[in-house]
Amino acid sequence: MPTFQAPRGTRDLLPADRVLWARAEASLRDLAARYGYREIETPLFEASAVFERGVGAVTDIVEKELFRVSPSRGEEREPWALRPEATAGIVRAYIEHGLHTQPQPVRLSLYGAMFRYDRPQAGRYRQFYQWDIEAIGDAGPAIDAEIIELGSRFYRSLGLAMVEARLNTIGDPVCRPGYLKALTAYYQTRIGEFPDLARTRLVSNPLRLLDSKDPAMVEINRHAPSMWDHLCDPCAEHFAAVRVHLDALGIPYRLSPEIVRGLDYYTRTTFEFVRPGAEGQQDALGGGGRYDGLVELLGGKPTPAIGFALGMDRIVHAMQEATAEGGAASADAAVPIAVIVGADPDDTVTRLRIATDLRATGLAVRADLARRKLGRQLEAAVRDGARYAVIVGDELPDGLVQLRDLGAASQKPVAVSALAALLRRKASAAGPG
Ligand code: HAM
Repeated sequence: MPTFQAPRGTRDLLPADRVLWARAEASLRDLAARYGYREIETPLFEASAVFERGVGAVTDIVEKELFRVSPSRGEEREPWALRPEATAGIVRAYIEHGLHTQPQPVRLSLYGAMFRYDRPQAGRYRQFYQWDIEAIGDAGPAIDAEIIELGSRFYRSLGLAMVEARLNTIGDPVCRPGYLKALTAYYQTRIGEFPDLARTRLVSNPLRLLDSKDPAMVEINRHAPSMWDHLCDPCAEHFAAVRVHLDALGIPYRLSPEIVRGLDYYTRTTFEFVRPGAEGQQDALGGGGRYDGLVELLGGKPTPAIGFALGMDRIVHAMQEATAEGGAASADAAVPIAVIVGADPDDTVTRLRIATDLRATGLAVRADLARRKLGRQLEAAVRDGARYAVIVGDELPDGLVQLRDLGAASQKPVAVSALAALLRRKASAAGPG
């Protein structure tokens, strides 16, 4: 028989792994609701042109990493691609459904899987998960700060206070061309020192050379002209105002001219959330920026917008490391407070009935439904992490069961009718976790 494995670059998230994910997901849903971002879901695949136009044809994401999908039957000819990110699809939906007629900005939140056909390595998967936030229809600058504050709060809510916000501006179509000219002219003077890949980039996308991690480029970039010296007045004012708002909120950030981002749609504000000290690909835990030209580029009316996407795989990894370093472990919501076990291995009816009645009152309980000896049922209850076992047996008068405290290994008879109230008291006395 062949044995099968999950495809390269994908992962199974087993129940024990999912506990931290669930905590992060609960936090993002809570924050999205409190900040007024309403949930949107878009298809996992779109016409590839949505990404080619939106993200940009000469970006890594489109050139190298797009998962193109060909339909298995011939009648559909549309070239599709799995979504590598959420922004382009959300903007497509905003235009398609005329969301510009709703009060602006439209604040949207999407949590889900994204796909990039990248070389898999630590922190880089072919299927990964993002929390994506978009505010469409607000030119800022206050909302830029609100969004950066929201991202920062999310990391803090997960115990990741070390995450740093890095802020930059990459200007707009008025001032960026002049800057790119100056940057290219400077690079030409040092082309002899360029690594090979950088030579091709110099023609296709010189801005991306600024975030190169190649030591030769890092040295060259130290003396490169700065976008900040080439900003037009409106872009300079916008950048200054974003900072005023962030400062007023007390949000720490680092000014980082290398945050140029890997997608073409950005204008003005760009930012990333970085975990200092994390190796290579693991370090960017999220990023985003303003994309004032994208709605128009995809066929809508000119509409300013800004958003972010936070990489949940890397965030959960950082949470795992923080937990290993002594942070609070998370409670598994699926751990039952009690397991219903029975002295008669064959009487699964009574066990299932009692568990069903208790669950109907809102308690998390499990019935042991295996036809095995009581001792084995109790062992399994302990391994499940349950605090109590309810032992159904024939040696007690009708209507009574034994409530066994699995930690203290003591037990006492309790009326079945009193179980729900008793277990609820025990569950709330111990509190969550
Ligand atoms: P991005 O920087 O391409 O931005 O992705 C955001 C985050 O997703 C990254 O910082 C990283 O944490 C995570 N990520 C990206 N690729 C992978 C991968 N292969 N494996 C694991 N995690 C990954 C965007 O996607 C933009 N749409 C953000 C945005 C929203 N800008 C405006 N609105």
